[in-house]
Amino acid sequence: MSQRPKITVPKLKQFKQEGRKITMLTAYDYTFARFLEEAEVDMVLVGDSLGMVVQGQKNTLPVTLDEMIYHARCVSRALDRSHLIVDMPFMSYQASPEQPLLNCGRVLKEAAAESVKLEGGRELSETIRRLTQAGIPVMAHIGLKPQSIHQMGGYVVQGRKEEAARNLIKEAKAHEEAGAYALLLEGIPAAVAAEITAGAQIPTIGIGAGVNCDGQVLVIYDLLGMDKTFNPKFCKTYAQLHEVITQAIGRYIKDVQEKKFPAPENAYGELNVKDHRPRQNASLVAGR
Ligand code: KIV
Repeated sequence: MSQRPKITVPKLKQFKQEGRKITMLTAYDYTFARFLEEAEVDMVLVGDSLGMVVQGQKNTLPVTLDEMIYHARCVSRALDRSHLIVDMPFMSYQASPEQPLLNCGRVLKEAAAESVKLEGGRELSETIRRLTQAGIPVMAHIGLKPQSIHQMGGYVVQGRKEEAARNLIKEAKAHEEAGAYALLLEGIPAAVAAEITAGAQIPTIGIGAGVNCDGQVLVIYDLLGMDKTFNPKFCKTYAQLHEVITQAIGRYIKDVQEKKFPAPENAYGELNVKDHRPRQNASLVAGR
């Protein structure tokens, strides 16, 4: 057992009261999730952004519930302290009043998720109420909602005009009253996010929503600079892994072609099965 206390829903609410900023990043597999757990990020989101960054789709719409569960299960095996939150994909919660209960229930049962994230405006509040009553903690995602890309006409910042901003503030209040434990604010003016945050008892997590949110989230591949063609204003790249990875692969190719790899130290001599140590998934986390 880890000595580090689990990040629970009540703890996240407490962080808001204490003014302690919340950190959240995406992960889609075990290896990346281990890095996040080791770095002690508060929340790990299995985002439906996996449609784009893992599957190479044009947007998040094709992602299925089974795919989300598969990736969430991989991530969950690496987590101990960090809170695991999973995105509900497009059309897994909009079709009927029962659908979100059954599908979010699957995500908690089959993927060990500790909460779910759903995109939606006022129409979502009733769903949030039902899920919360059933014991399923919900983060409500408002503002720029990638699952509504066709309705928005692209990834367009929301709430720029006075009326749209007022609507967002009302949506945030309605979701909080319905029982959401947190709000995700994506692609909205910093001043609007600040007003929502100041008026909410529950934490707000921002992406492209300014510094006054209670926490921040980024897609891990964006933070690490894995795609040099993607440099949105809202993102800060903390590493240039695109360069690091392509250079490493290039060096490997060169070494193989020049017969420098495998070197004698990478090759086995006499047959001795003990030489070959299979990979072990020993956790990076001390004490586990
Ligand atoms: O799918 C996702 O990764 C998200 C973001 C808020 C990062 O929803």
